[in-house]
Amino acid sequence: MTIQTFEEQLKAMVGDRFKANEPLSAHTSIRIGGSADFFVSPQDIGELETLLNWAVQNHVPYWILGAGTNMLVRDGGLRGLVITLKHFNQCKPLEGNRVEAGAGLPLPRLVEWSLAQGLVGLETLTGIPGALGGAITMNAGTRDGEIAPLVESVTCLVKNNATSEAAFKQTTLGPKQLCFSYRSSKLPKGAVITGAVLKLEQGDVNAARARYQSIKEKRLKSQPLDSPNLGSVFKNVSGKKGKTFFAGALIEEAELKGVRVGQARISEKHGNFIINEGGATARDVLSLIGLIRDKVKERFDILLEPEIKIIGEDTL
Ligand code: EPU
Repeated sequence: MTIQTFEEQLKAMVGDRFKANEPLSAHTSIRIGGSADFFVSPQDIGELETLLNWAVQNHVPYWILGAGTNMLVRDGGLRGLVITLKHFNQCKPLEGNRVEAGAGLPLPRLVEWSLAQGLVGLETLTGIPGALGGAITMNAGTRDGEIAPLVESVTCLVKNNATSEAAFKQTTLGPKQLCFSYRSSKLPKGAVITGAVLKLEQGDVNAARARYQSIKEKRLKSQPLDSPNLGSVFKNVSGKKGKTFFAGALIEEAELKGVRVGQARISEKHGNFIINEGGATARDVLSLIGLIRDKVKERFDILLEPEIKIIGEDTL
């Protein structure tokens, strides 16, 4: 099968929602990333299922893109099929203070929408960028709480090895099967989250809104949100007796704020943010990540683990 045939088949499946050699810098929050061979934006689960089955059948690697935050794509880009879930962005209220939302819905929009519905619970996640699917996969959270306790069920397409023509089937998973832990979950290998049902509460909406506003204002003051960034680069680290070592604080104490490699820079505002000052490459960012890990290890004997996902190929 030639690349041209692949392109024709994908075009036949999704029309002009297919693009060849699409620069991923246009789809990541830090505005960095080489090109995807094939880039598609399915509009519903049926289309997504068809695309995934096609990829398996044709031995084409596939990648799922949510909001493109917390994700660094190397400069050589991604071989195969990149699927954005940006059209999976609906949300609707269900009986019993529950809400159903699509995996591609940006979490900040879901937080605001649920408060407008008079429902509380999600405001503890104010300030986390990214889409719902990614937030569930990594059990996103802040000091105030994480998403796991709110998840009633997750709908996903799960790969079964029966036949490649129907490799994926729709399944619903509960929190027990997802085995949430700090910043992680255990989804079946190759599973693609399409949406979730969250259980919220009819609590004190005014208090929740005030909390939301105050976190939002604090975040605007403390994070470099006016520059392209990756969100938090590293996870915070749990120490003994419930002590938390905050990555941002460690980086500040190691005197790394403001350090630059190429056009990438450790933010002066928040140590756990790397910003793109214009034209930064993934290689610049990776050099900074390496530098931070080395210096923090040297200084505090703490090994910082990236919270971001690093994918794709290097350039030669
Ligand atoms: N701090 C410093 N220097 C810095 C930055 C932070 O000393 O340069 C200190 C702060 O003073 C504070 C502590 O470190 O005492 C924690 O900082 P912050 O309140 O900014 O929270 P964080 O743990 O760095 C977390 C999430 C963010 C989320 C905020 C909302 C993680 C790894 N990150 O940040 O999520 O926006 O809480 O308050 O848990 C993301 O996940 O991408 C993300 C941006």
